[in-house]
Amino acid sequence: MDGDRAPLHELVELKKRFGALLILDEAHAVGVIGAHGGGLTAAENADADVDVQMGTLSKALGASGGYICGSRTLIEWLINRARSFIYSTAPPPAVAAAALAAVDFLSSAEGEERRLLLWDRIILMRELFGQLDVGRWTLGVGRLNVANQRSTLNAQRSSGSGSAIFPWIVGGEQAALSLAAGLQDDGFLVPAIRYPTVAKGAARLRIAVTAAHEEDQIRALCQAIGRHSL
Ligand SMILES: Cc1ncc(COP(=O)(O)O)c(C=O)c1O
Repeated sequence: MDGDRAPLHELVELKKRFGALLILDEAHAVGVIGAHGGGLTAAENADADVDVQMGTLSKALGASGGYICGSRTLIEWLINRARSFIYSTAPPPAVAAAALAAVDFLSSAEGEERRLLLWDRIILMRELFGQLDVGRWTLGVGRLNVANQRSTLNAQRSSGSGSAIFPWIVGGEQAALSLAAGLQDDGFLVPAIRYPTVAKGAARLRIAVTAAHEEDQIRALCQAIGRHSL
């Protein structure tokens, strides 16, 4: 929800200790984290330890639907027993083709360039958002070290830390809706996320940065957030 990362190595340790299966939702990681957007499992070289990887085709891949990767036995079992799979209409061929084209694009040099551009935008957003009172609070004072980020830009672009999601935790639902409406009037689409998606009293705005956002747009958004948060 807030772009925070699962502590994968700790989860793998727990899985091993208790003989459990590990299922990882890579919805926000695919296309963003790891070389060619391979996701968190790929970024942390944990393929052998993650039993089931699931993700959506609707975020970085820009199509719709989702996928599950796992053992052949698991996949056969899901095909035959998963109610949501059996009783849903399959994605239309055009959507499947769009998702396949997106995967091909991500695997290409041009796709990797686009992903690195996204990280440039994420780092700019983190720097500017972190300078705002709301951003400092949300990102956590102390965890944010802008000066250090500049020097570690290349490492961050390739390994990635954080994500393209920036939560602005507001609290009240009405306050979140008003802020979203105010930002929309200024030309920014920032949805208000409310109960039951998040806990009562923890309504927030969810800012999603993409590679298509220009630097000036990110600067203007942060200025607007600064004005609305006064
Ligand atoms: C972590 C996570 N998993 C899965 C999904 C579901 O994605 P979709 O809406 O494409 O089914 C979402 C959607 O926001 C998500 O945030």
